[in-house]
Amino acid sequence: MKCVVVTQPGGPEVLTLNETEVPELMPGEIRVAVETVGVNYWDIMQRKGLVPLPANRIPGVEGAGSVIAMATDVSNFTYGDRVAWSKIQGSYAEQVQGPAKFFVPIPESVTSETAAAGLMQGTTAWYLAYQCAPVHVGDSAVVFAAAGGVGHLLTQMLTERGAHVIAIVGSQAKRSIPLALGATAAIVDSAQLIEDLRAIAPEGVNLVFDANGGAQALRDLKMLKAHGTVVYFGTAAGPLPTMDLELLSAGSLAVRRVRGTDYIGDATTWNVAAKEVMDRIEDGRLHINVDSQVPLSDVARQHERLESRASTGKLLVDVALATR
Ligand SMILES: NC(=O)c1ccc[n+]([C@@H]2O[C@H](COP(=O)([O-])OP(=O)(O)OC[C@H]3O[C@@H](n4cnc5c(N)ncnc54)[C@H](OP(=O)(O)O)[C@@H]3O)[C@@H](O)[C@H]2O)c1
Repeated sequence: MKCVVVTQPGGPEVLTLNETEVPELMPGEIRVAVETVGVNYWDIMQRKGLVPLPANRIPGVEGAGSVIAMATDVSNFTYGDRVAWSKIQGSYAEQVQGPAKFFVPIPESVTSETAAAGLMQGTTAWYLAYQCAPVHVGDSAVVFAAAGGVGHLLTQMLTERGAHVIAIVGSQAKRSIPLALGATAAIVDSAQLIEDLRAIAPEGVNLVFDANGGAQALRDLKMLKAHGTVVYFGTAAGPLPTMDLELLSAGSLAVRRVRGTDYIGDATTWNVAAKEVMDRIEDGRLHINVDSQVPLSDVARQHERLESRASTGKLLVDVALATR
């Protein structure tokens, strides 16, 4: 099968189209013909060598396709079922395989493209909105990178919960995206960010969801009202700084540095989150923005778009294009 491998840690140029053997199925596993693969920040960290790659050096963890093989002990799928996944290593390939318990059926009315686009970042947005910090009707929440993959879904889920979302985006052109998805205000990130936020929310906000991290991350504490919480969940702009705990005394504040594995890491909790996302996509509560799609051979272009802050919504790879 065709696949993309990381030849060595580095920039997008190290993503190389290759051929590899399809491994044998292990007990409990299914194999899927991949239609669409999702690209996200985890893949960039795999490419840079910041998080581990599988032994076959194929990056990617999410996508959608149809079942083509099952181990004899798998009974919950049949051949041809359309499924989506967000925790299967080696997804930049024509076929992927892994434990059946980490695949979910795609509802009939949902396209494979939409399922691939929504699952990974949707399950992340779901655990952030529903599990990480108290969210009450009428609360105010800042969402960073609100036009991005996780951000545009988190904006919708917090809005659904009755929170007022103040979106932070990297450019003027991105403001309209979270506003169209329910945010009550959208601010362009700048040196004036705290002043701009306080002009909208003079007393501060209850919650900040920060996907960017980086050297400026501690300014988030200045956005909070008393008892407020900052949830740090990403490092797109760089590692998080160390912090003086006395900063929290400015309002009995709280911070959390969260990882998906602690909320939706096991099959049971992941399946709950996956169903919550699929249900919302199916009934129209969750709108999925797709930025662009490229063939497998061009996946480096998606990495460049994501890293350069050019993208909005979800970046996809149409794997079928590589074989036509
Ligand atoms: N903890 C978890 O469970 C979990 C799971 C999935 C993803 N994440 C994290 O969530 C974040 C978003 O992931 P995503 O895949 O959905 O990406 P994304 O939001 O679609 O793209 C990243 C966005 O980050 C913003 N950004 C700010 N500074 C940046 C910089 N120096 N370089 C690049 N981007 C920068 C940009 O938005 P603006 O231009 O609008 O600022 C950019 O569009 C990532 O940090 C990722 O690691 C965490």
